Amino acid sequence: MAHAGTTSATPCSVVLYKLFILLFSIQGSTAGATDVITSTRPLSGKQKLVSQGGKFALGFYQPGGGPQDKWYIAIWYNKVQKVTPVWIANRETPISDPTSSELTIWTDGNLVLLNKSRSIFWSSNTTTTTGASNTTIVVVLLNTGNLVLTYASNTSNIIWQSFNHPTDTQLPGMKFGRNKLTGVSDRQVSWRNYMDPSPGLFSVAMDPSVAAQYLLIWNNSRPYYTPGKFNPQAGAFSSIPSMTVMMMPNSIYSYEYVENDKEEYFLLTVKDDNLFLRTVIDPFGQQKGMVWLEDKQDWMLYFAEPSEKCSVYSMCGAFSWCAENIIPMCSCLRGFSAQSPIEWSSGNYMGGCTRNVALPCSLNGGGSVPLVHRYEEDRFYVANNVRLPDGSQTVRAASAIESEVACLNNCSCMAYSYNETCSLWYTDLMNLKENLGNTTNSIFIRLPASEIPHTKSSRGRPLWVIVGGSILALGVCLVAVLCLLHKKRSFKGLLHIDINMTTFRYKDLQLVTKTFSEKLGAGSFGSVFKGVLQDGTTVAIKKLEGVRQGEKQFRAEMSTLGTIHHVNLIQLLGFCSEGEHRMLIYEYMPHGALDQHLFRAGLGDVLPWNTRYQIAIGIAKGLTYLHDNCMNCIIHCDIKPENILLDATFSPKVADFGLAKLLGRDFSRVITTMRGTIGYLAPEWIGGTAITAKVDVFSYGMMLFEIISLKRNVEHGKRCADKFFPILVATKIQEGDVHELLDAHLRRDVNLEELDRACMVACWCVQQDERSRPTMGVIVQILEGLVEVNMPPVPRYLQVLAESAGESMLSSIE
Ligand SMILES: *[C@@H]1O[C@H](CO)[C@@H](O)[C@H](O)[C@H]1NC(C)=O
Ligand SMILES: *[C@@H]1O[C@H](CO)[C@@H](O)[C@H](O)[C@H]1NC(C)=O
Ligand SMILES: *[C@@H]1O[C@H](CO)[C@@H](O)[C@H](O)[C@H]1NC(C)=O
Ligand SMILES: *[C@@H]1O[C@H](CO)[C@@H](O)[C@H](O)[C@H]1NC(C)=O
Ligand SMILES: *[C@@H]1O[C@H](CO)[C@@H](O)[C@H](O)[C@H]1NC(C)=O
Ligand SMILES: *[C@@H]1O[C@H](CO)[C@@H](O)[C@H](O)[C@H]1NC(C)=O
Ligand SMILES: *[C@@H]1O[C@H](CO)[C@@H](O)[C@H](O)[C@H]1NC(C)=O
Ligand SMILES: *[C@@H]1O[C@H](CO)[C@@H](O)[C@H](O)[C@H]1NC(C)=O
Repeated sequence: MAHAGTTSATPCSVVLYKLFILLFSIQGSTAGATDVITSTRPLSGKQKLVSQGGKFALGFYQPGGGPQDKWYIAIWYNKVQKVTPVWIANRETPISDPTSSELTIWTDGNLVLLNKSRSIFWSSNTTTTTGASNTTIVVVLLNTGNLVLTYASNTSNIIWQSFNHPTDTQLPGMKFGRNKLTGVSDRQVSWRNYMDPSPGLFSVAMDPSVAAQYLLIWNNSRPYYTPGKFNPQAGAFSSIPSMTVMMMPNSIYSYEYVENDKEEYFLLTVKDDNLFLRTVIDPFGQQKGMVWLEDKQDWMLYFAEPSEKCSVYSMCGAFSWCAENIIPMCSCLRGFSAQSPIEWSSGNYMGGCTRNVALPCSLNGGGSVPLVHRYEEDRFYVANNVRLPDGSQTVRAASAIESEVACLNNCSCMAYSYNETCSLWYTDLMNLKENLGNTTNSIFIRLPASEIPHTKSSRGRPLWVIVGGSILALGVCLVAVLCLLHKKRSFKGLLHIDINMTTFRYKDLQLVTKTFSEKLGAGSFGSVFKGVLQDGTTVAIKKLEGVRQGEKQFRAEMSTLGTIHHVNLIQLLGFCSEGEHRMLIYEYMPHGALDQHLFRAGLGDVLPWNTRYQIAIGIAKGLTYLHDNCMNCIIHCDIKPENILLDATFSPKVADFGLAKLLGRDFSRVITTMRGTIGYLAPEWIGGTAITAKVDVFSYGMMLFEIISLKRNVEHGKRCADKFFPILVATKIQEGDVHELLDAHLRRDVNLEELDRACMVACWCVQQDERSRPTMGVIVQILEGLVEVNMPPVPRYLQVLAESAGESMLSSIE
């Protein structure tokens, strides 16, 4: 057992409690489910053990969507509809038929899983059962989710417990730590994937060298993340202070750290026993904290670390690179393709990529290769701005050329990089990541010459140059090479190569949309149709109306829009420009536009607060990217719920950006032409002053009010001045209580702290003076709780705006 101190810590009440349940279960043996297994009452088939208190159940379990012939002994939440296993016994040895199998007590006193011919598939495997036999031992499922093996005569003497052998989940009341005497740490190991509980690549264990700190580890060898040292005063880890912030209201759980001579451990405690809380190391390497929301009937995430998925070691497998804000987040390096395209397209990238064409030298048995072939057959391709992979070996080399030659000389060498020292990689390249900071790491990846096109461009430097320029020959040759090398470095590396836009023919688009038969909607720039490409990708096709630009300018515009990649911006996949046809092909968003989810009559299916808050943050991030990070600042000019699309996970994507410019819209006439969006327009539009990115901030603020209230600020044809929500909020903020503004049914699931922040931000966004409005970047930080925000003044003009808006709505409709 990992925890030597367990038994002495058992309080009296627990002993009594266990005695009680033991008596109960012996007397009430016929009354339905029990919480005890004995050798005369094994568990089989559909039977289950239910803990006293009814919180947890144990029985045979099969993951949804997994193979039909694999069954596991599992503990799950008995009352949670969505079956959620927290512990699995035989994760490596599933059985094929639960009805003929049984979980029972073996002659040596161990808990065992037997198949029909009584072969042991799994055993509790403990040897500390002195004097134990199948008649003296019982197994009890406690209401904490702990399965314990104890003596029938003395239930406080715990021989074995599942809490000491966790699967991937930590539950409240479960110690997670390290035995100081043996040095052995508890370990939680992820599932292989969501359908396969066998041990995956990621685990959590205590840091052997630093106290009060745990690590996330890849393949049992490579730590890749730690939340930092635990700070007992704060009750949180140093690098996730968010854990305290994100704790549910009134701190309904706490985390503590205990250390003594024998052990150190963390303990999660929940103040309210009716709350189901768990942390899990997930199959994709993130540690997640989740809580069950009864009214939503779903698990809510309250933290996920590391928050950047690219920080999970080898997230994209071998020979690929990870980029946080691009979809898909993993891409194979040039010359490589997904090892398993099916898994890859389902979002599991960990299988990585393999070479399209084997290195010619490896076909000759590897090793050292005749000089002539070497130079003809292999080349290097540069990837710029990357986080370099691990596992390089340093060799002596006086120049980049020497470094390259050193790599070429050994067939196992996959890549090199040179920065005054020469690093060579002899293993699969793992953990490459796009690094947009100001580091200038470049890595040169070895490819067969056939994988690099023979163009005059500097990409594939003719390698005969090196033959002449071998290590000793410094001269004109080397100068030439260095020039070329210099050019090569400045060439856009492979990170930016695959973003070329696809051009579609009108004829093909007619085909994929079944002659534009399925209309998804109509926006201010034209109608949108659904289409299915030949490879099965569903797309949304926007038929632009009234494009004034010529073909050349349109194409130029498209290539700019095509370079814009952000997880919160809709991705332009391609376009069509033929005759007068101008169409844009976008990724398809299954959940449609935000307005359809905000302004619904029924109360049952409104978006929960947490989702709405995340949507608000996502939109702000997308706009930050448009305003700050693109080559040219793009002002959206038409932010409103109709222009926010939601993907399958309800993550928001801003649509229609860049189109205002494309269509050469006359902004001075915007008031009269864009009736429906009047509620979102900044006063500058009316005042005739210069338009800046702050007009988007204004519209965002107005929309944020709607995200909060789930109502339109300005209803069509209705004069709303006396209860214009933005005014109400701005006024109530001064009084320090915005909570009462929400109807009872809305208030229920709202995180009050987030509500306060959102209201403050929204009020700052709609200030009259654009200089008072925050930038989108600051808004993200405020909403994420990273920046404090002051009290916003009440924008008086809002009252006026509301009245005039109400009136102009009326007049435009009548
Ligand atoms: C208990 O173990 C004994 C041998 O030690 C065996 O004979 C007996 O059948 C076992 N009883 C059960 C119910 O498995
Ligand atoms: C039980 O498992 C053993 C070992 O895997 C196997 O040889 C045997 O055929 C299994 N029995 C049945 C009835 O499936
Ligand atoms: C039990 O111990 C045996 C032998 O030491 C080992 O092969 C088996 O995998 C162990 N089973 C479990 C469930 O740990
Ligand atoms: C029960 O077991 C506990 C722990 O081993 C021990 O301290 C206690 O004395 C035992 N009680 C009896 C009545 O044997
Ligand atoms: C994990 O490590 C083992 C050896 O410790 C190795 O055989 C295996 O290939 C590694 N897995 C991956 C995916 O690299
Ligand atoms: C290639 O490099 C590896 C790793 O340094 C080394 O083990 C191997 O012997 C080298 N092969 C040749 C032919 O030099
Ligand atoms: C060059 O790269 C190595 C390995 O990545 C690093 O340790 C070293 O500090 C770098 N040197 C310079 C001058 O950047
Ligand atoms: C960029 O470099 C400057 C100076 O070298 C440094 O102060 C700054 O922190 C760096 N920024 C990033 C994002 O690494």
